[in-house]
Amino acid sequence: MRITVKQQVLLAPATVLTLLVMLLIFMQYTYWNLAQKRHEAKVIGTTFIALAEADMAARRLHLLLRSMQHTGMAAPEDMALVADLYERLLTAIDRLEPFGPLKDSGQISQLMTLAEHLNPANSPEPGKTAELFARLRAELSTLSNITQIHRNKLRLVHEQDINQLVERTAAVSMIVLILAILLGLFISIYVSRRILGRIQGLSNNAARIADGKLDLPDAPERIRDELDTLALSINRMTKRLIQVIGTEKLLEGAEEERRRIAMDLHDQSLADLSALLRGLQNLKTTAPDEVATQLETLAQDLERALANLRDIMNNLHPQTLDILGLGAAIEAHLEQHCANHELPEYHFYLDPRISAINLDRIKQLTLYRIAIEAIQNVLKHASASRYEVSLELRAENLVMAVEDNGKGISRNQNHEGRGLNNIRERARAIGADVSWKPSRFSSGTRLELTLKLTE
Ligand SMILES: Nc1ncnc2c1ncn2[C@@H]1O[C@H](COP(=O)(O)OP(=O)(O)OP(=O)(O)O)[C@@H](O)[C@H]1O
Ligand SMILES: [Mg+2]
Repeated sequence: MRITVKQQVLLAPATVLTLLVMLLIFMQYTYWNLAQKRHEAKVIGTTFIALAEADMAARRLHLLLRSMQHTGMAAPEDMALVADLYERLLTAIDRLEPFGPLKDSGQISQLMTLAEHLNPANSPEPGKTAELFARLRAELSTLSNITQIHRNKLRLVHEQDINQLVERTAAVSMIVLILAILLGLFISIYVSRRILGRIQGLSNNAARIADGKLDLPDAPERIRDELDTLALSINRMTKRLIQVIGTEKLLEGAEEERRRIAMDLHDQSLADLSALLRGLQNLKTTAPDEVATQLETLAQDLERALANLRDIMNNLHPQTLDILGLGAAIEAHLEQHCANHELPEYHFYLDPRISAINLDRIKQLTLYRIAIEAIQNVLKHASASRYEVSLELRAENLVMAVEDNGKGISRNQNHEGRGLNNIRERARAIGADVSWKPSRFSSGTRLELTLKLTE
């Protein structure tokens, strides 16, 4: 499975982040453990103090009760003190918090029962009171010992724990940070090398295409990321280029063939027919009048046939284009075929800078044929009273326009002959843009072709 560019870019930071989060969790866990122990130490401390207070209250209560029993007198302030001491004893026992071994031993509740038996309000017997105090204090002492032992043990463990914790945390943090940096670096280098490798491949393909080597680069089977999209676009671009170049070659071949036919017609048929015409004219001078008139008619027919043949030849390959260039060839066509009172009036504009441009023959021919078809369409379909044909230089572009004031191309006309299609195909073959817009006259169509002159 291949991961996408976006995922690859995110891989390194995600790994580093995951490691840092794991480090944080580890530290949190360690401190939580420590906090537990701290809480236990606090509980033991409270219990220890409560035990000492209980013992002190019990001792003073015992002494006071004993002296009261001895004298047989109970002053009201003594009674108040007894009640206060008993209250303190109970409060202290109440504050005891069971920990570790004391949790389920029941010693604390036993202590409370003993204390309740000692309630001075119940005026217990002196002998029993002494015994109860002895048991209570013995119990308190045992608990105090247990608490003390536990307290010491815990203090020791706590100190060790803190030392260990500091060492462990420092070591683990160090290891995790180094690991995160190394892993981040490694992944970044690995990922960027992979991405750069793919970009390099694409750039090589693009460079090969730019150099004219049109071997079709591989297209990805599935689009997973932006680079796959780019690879597919390069592949499609190459296919299209191969097609365009194919069309261009085909066009070039066809033009060459037309030129050859035009030359053959000129050198062979035209020469033969011209010889025939000369023969007829010679014959006419010596022939009797009757025959001479017929010969004259024949000679006129032959001249018309010759003019038609010249037209066909010119259509096949406009010689003016080779001799005078694009502008002059279009102008010659207009003068020969469109300067007629029955046809709409035309205006031809040729930018003088055009003659300085060195357009290759195939481009000139293509532009010429497009202009002829556009003019033909104006005459056939536009019902215009005038039209303009122009060749201009605009910035780095050659702009050729045929603009009429006719009825305009109807949007919902469903007939499309070969003319418009040929114009599009021809324009595409030489890399020009062609469009049909509303004309700048009040109505009509403007065909505009733009050819970039800088490659
Ligand atoms: N300048 C124009 N003004 C008005 N309509 C036009 C103009 N140019 C083309 N059209 C319309 O577009 C249609 C298609 O033109 P296209 O050149 O493709 O075919 P065509 O001229 O009818 O036939 P072909 O060019 O194959 O001899 C025409 O039939 C016409 O309706
Ligand atoms: Mg047409």
